[in-house]
Parts: sequence; C-alpha cells; structure tokens
Amino acid sequence: MKNLFVCAATCLHNTAIDEKLALTHLAWQRLVNDELSFSDDVPVLAIAEVRFPDKPVLLAPRDMPKRKVTSPEGKAAFFHAIAHVEFVAIYLAWDIIYRFRGMPQQFYQNWLRVADEEAQHFELIRAHLQAMDVDYGDLPAHGGLWDHAKDTAHDLLARLAMVPRCMEARGLDVTPAIIEKFNSMGDVTSVKLLTRILTDEVGHVERGSYWFKYVCQQQGVDDIEAKYQQLIKQYYIGGKPKGPFNREMRIIAGFSTAELDWLELP
Ligand SMILES: [Fe+2]
Ligand SMILES: [Fe+2]
Repeated sequence: MKNLFVCAATCLHNTAIDEKLALTHLAWQRLVNDELSFSDDVPVLAIAEVRFPDKPVLLAPRDMPKRKVTSPEGKAAFFHAIAHVEFVAIYLAWDIIYRFRGMPQQFYQNWLRVADEEAQHFELIRAHLQAMDVDYGDLPAHGGLWDHAKDTAHDLLARLAMVPRCMEARGLDVTPAIIEKFNSMGDVTSVKLLTRILTDEVGHVERGSYWFKYVCQQQGVDDIEAKYQQLIKQYYIGGKPKGPFNREMRIIAGFSTAELDWLELP
C-alpha cells in the first residue's frame, strides 16, 4: 500500500474502522518518509461505491434525540455526535484526494495531513467516549454529513466551497461557545480535547481557502468572492448558513472581509 490513491480507495471502499485509522496514519508516515507514490493511474469509482460501517445507525437531523450536555447522557451523546463528524471528516479528506486528480502534489500532501489529523481527532474523541462507557456506534448519528460530498463529487470548487469553507468553517463558529460551556462545568478534559481540535480545524479551513483560490485562478475565475457566493447559494439548502460567524478565526482561515460581510447579510 505505497500508492496514495490505492490507500484512498481502500479507506473509502471498506468499512473496518481500525484498519482505516491505521492505514491513514501509515499513509501519512510514508509521505513524511518520502516513501509514498502519487502516480494516479488508479481508477476512480463512483461516489456511490463509498462504504460506511453498519453502526452508527444514521438518522435525519430532526429525528436525533436532543439532550443537554450538563447531564451524563447528554455529554456522551454530544461527544458521540462529534466522533461521527470526525469519522466522516476522515472520509471527506480521503475523498477529495481520491476523486480530484491532476492537482499539484502539494494538494494531496495537504489533504493527507488533514485525513491524518481527522483520524487523530476521531481516536481522541472515541477514547473520551469509552471513558464514559460508550463506544462509537452505540448511539445513532446524523445522516446528512456525507450528502455534501455526494452533491459535489463532480466539481472541485463546489467541494471546497461546501466542505472546508462551509461545513468545517461552521465548527469555528460554534466550538468556542461549547468549550466555554465545558469550562464553566469544570470539565478540563473536554476543554483540552475540543481546543486541540479547534486549532487543527482552523488549518483545514485555511487549506480549503487556499485551494479554492488556486482552482479559481486555474479556471480563470476573476471574481473569487462572487464564485464562492454562487456555489453556496447553489449547494447550501436554505441559501447560506446562519450566523453568528467567528470573524476572527475565519479571517485566519482565509475568508475575506467581503465574504464575511455577505454571509452576515440577513
Ligand atoms: Fe476534525
Ligand atoms: Fe477538519
């Protein structure tokens, strides 16, 4: 397994969780050691061939039970939801590598690093859950996260707009208040974990912004901000996400003031 695209195919088309995690770390290690091949004569299967484990059972967001993080059950349910976000994020990072060929080697290096960090996030959260006697898969999870990948499987700009520059960017908006909540409860472990993840996620969104601009320039798109608006309007159900937005972190992650002003318009 010394070819990047063979590793990607293996992670996307198999369901075994531990093997997926181990292979993700191995691929990154091979890249660091300069032992990874980037030759892309590996066929691209349709996104419908991507496989997820039988558990967790996936539910529509409206069917997910609502609980407060101040109760033990609520805290476990919250971290189970985060574990699922991180698990799908591993797939999202591998999928952008697998599906969009012909980009510079740096593109693949960047997203493999993201895949490796998402696998670390998943492992950290899973261990945190296990300390609460819950494992990933014991509770139902949000079934809609992969939809954005399916919707944008044919269009790299749309993928970058919707996944790092929309879904992952939402994490920057909402996580600080959640960290504050656990802080006020004196839950140091949860605070540390979520802070570590938040720091990494700024980098993921920033890579999304970087490559969004790169592909715009490559495709001769003059007005990068107008393109972002158009793609969000086209792919985001409801037209665009609702704030409040974390302007400070989003600026660090490559958003322009004009993009943020547009997002904040009612
Ligand atoms: Fe993550
Ligand atoms: Fe991420």
